[in-house]
Amino acid sequence: MSGNLAVNGGPKAITIDQSEALRWPILTEEDERAVLNVMRKNETSLSDEPKLLEHEFASYLGAEYALAEVNGTSALYAALFVLGIGPGDEVICPSYTYWASAMPAATLGAKVVFCEINPESFDMDVEDFRGKITPRTKAVIPVHLWGVPCEMDEILAIARENGIAVIEDACHAHGAEYNSRKVGTIGDFGIFSFQASKNLPGGEGGMLITSKKEYYNLAISLGHYRRAADLTEKYSRYQHTSLGFKHRMSPLHAAITRVQLKNLDEKNQIRKDNIEKLLRVLEELPGFHIYWTPPHIKRVYYENDIVYRGEETGVSIERLINMMEAEGAIIRCDRYPLLHQQPFFVERGSNPEDLPVTREINEHILALPTFPGDDGTLVNQYIDAFIKVVRSF
Ligand SMILES: Cc1ncc(COP(=O)(O)O)c(C=O)c1O
Repeated sequence: MSGNLAVNGGPKAITIDQSEALRWPILTEEDERAVLNVMRKNETSLSDEPKLLEHEFASYLGAEYALAEVNGTSALYAALFVLGIGPGDEVICPSYTYWASAMPAATLGAKVVFCEINPESFDMDVEDFRGKITPRTKAVIPVHLWGVPCEMDEILAIARENGIAVIEDACHAHGAEYNSRKVGTIGDFGIFSFQASKNLPGGEGGMLITSKKEYYNLAISLGHYRRAADLTEKYSRYQHTSLGFKHRMSPLHAAITRVQLKNLDEKNQIRKDNIEKLLRVLEELPGFHIYWTPPHIKRVYYENDIVYRGEETGVSIERLINMMEAEGAIIRCDRYPLLHQQPFFVERGSNPEDLPVTREINEHILALPTFPGDDGTLVNQYIDAFIKVVRSF
């Protein structure tokens, strides 16, 4: 059997061209027309497009206030700024996330305290979050990593008990739901990114969501100086200066995001159907550990990351990747540079030896394609390739 493996010179299991099935974002003539329309109106800077996106995205989410931002990082910065977070404050956040979840708090002078993840869902470990609270903790940033909503009821209950604000980092989770509510609308703030790799891709862009008018007004004053003129005197004072930054979203990116929003659910469903078809096969194979969300959680798939344990099969993750690549697969070890081990945070007191669960799981993560444009043909070939490779173990 092993003689048949592509790594040993046998035929590849994956033979079709993958470029269309894996292509993301999927931009069409409708996106082109939307961009051209903004250009022809000569509204490439000042335009109603971001405001229209705010209305449409708020209505999609069932959110009260939505403010379009230049990107997700700036939206998170705005949320922390609005909360008045600064030197002497602590903000809790997982280490296993993209740097933008943590850096805005650090930029504002707060100390970022990193917490563990749950080794199955990869989301914030609620008990570790509770254990990391001190009298200085002002905010917690649950990250709905790879599209899996965090346990928001538990996080909110602990946060409320301790007077801590909750900022949901929903940059991976457009359309995901927790107890039938869209994530991003549950905490004090929800933060979204529309960067091109995201499930709602506008190229670049972001959104700040909140249910509190006061927060919304302050976020406008921080980064949207012209719009401050429409607010009450308390904020309109900042119409000529803002409170220090310019955060408004580009109309061209807003135009693309609006088109993409129309098909967000449909596109999320294509990923889900293809990915889950593969995962149902993988969960029967040795070494593969698949996480299925409980009924109150409806995840989306930003990434398709799973746990593979080579110690259970005698075939390391690197060797598995090597064998699968020979079969034609595009897969990789998805090791996030853990934030608590990065020089910036070590220099500010983080211990790189902390967070054993996060460190251990990070060694075992395998990133598979999300098949966003696949009609089911490519994923079938990946299934054949995995079965062929694993049978040779
Ligand atoms: C978890 C997470 N948070 C925040 C961000 C920041 O979003 P943006 O790239 O739009 O600034 C990203 C972007 O990749 C992210 O993955």
